[in-house]
Amino acid sequence: MDDARDHDRPDLDPALLRAARTARRVAVLTGAGMSAESGVPTFREPGEGFWSRWSPEELATPEAWEDDPQLVWSWYLWRARQVRALAPHAGHRALAAWSRGARVEVVTQNVDDLHERAGSAVLAHLHGSLFAFRCAGCSAPYPAERVPGLAPGAAAPGGEPEREHPPACPACGGPVRPGVVWFGELLPEGALDRAAEAVAAAELVVVVGTSGLVQPAASLPLIAAGRGIPVVEIDPRDTALTPHADFTVRAGAARALPLLVPGAAAASC
Ligand code: APR
Repeated sequence: MDDARDHDRPDLDPALLRAARTARRVAVLTGAGMSAESGVPTFREPGEGFWSRWSPEELATPEAWEDDPQLVWSWYLWRARQVRALAPHAGHRALAAWSRGARVEVVTQNVDDLHERAGSAVLAHLHGSLFAFRCAGCSAPYPAERVPGLAPGAAAPGGEPEREHPPACPACGGPVRPGVVWFGELLPEGALDRAAEAVAAAELVVVVGTSGLVQPAASLPLIAAGRGIPVVEIDPRDTALTPHADFTVRAGAARALPLLVPGAAAASC
């Protein structure tokens, strides 16, 4: 009889499991890898990340928007429609379940809404959201439900963005822009402070799926390390944050988080 055990099941350190079981306050910092198993591409993975197919300078900067608002609008709308057609995975659901037994504060660099759709409240979207639109002129918010192709259940978009005009702001007529933080722009007001406070007050910090290359988000785990708060990194690869982690789980988020979250593995059987 073959051993039915899951051979590539990551073995989590008993000390880490104990910390997860006893922590009353947990800070979770997620990056693009958290959404990878839901089908959302990451940014820097060789050959398949967004930045290997498109240039951030041409799409994710204020200058790119000034230069070609249609191109930038179309790319972000295409990404938003993609996310709408995807679903949270077991790792998102495990984090949401954890928050029913402890104070779990999710801080994400991701602009998708997969944490929310799994039931987590997100303390801070450090880089904004694909579903928060505003006028580039007067900053008036623009409702996502008015943006074509974003209604829940809308069909997934094609393989490439198609050029579309950004809508006009009803208040001033200016072009509506994505509510995503572009390189060189400030983070949403208060987001970093809330995130830093959550990390400093946590009994365990869980870092999931970030290369740790983009500041100021990458500095958050160092707040914990500087205070002796245990940090666990969940990522199939070593990252710039690995040296600051007390525990590393070399596995994907969808596999590792249900094993880390108290009671989640039993619940998912
Ligand atoms: N589970 C966990 N981690 C994963 C998985 C997975 N299934 N798949 C990939 N990863 C890891 C990769 O190994 C990598 O370390 O996720 C990380 C993704 O790194 P990046 O693509 O650099 O994404 P991120 O760190 O979130 O980028 C930060 O850069 O371009 C900007 O604004 C963008 O928010 C983004 C920021």
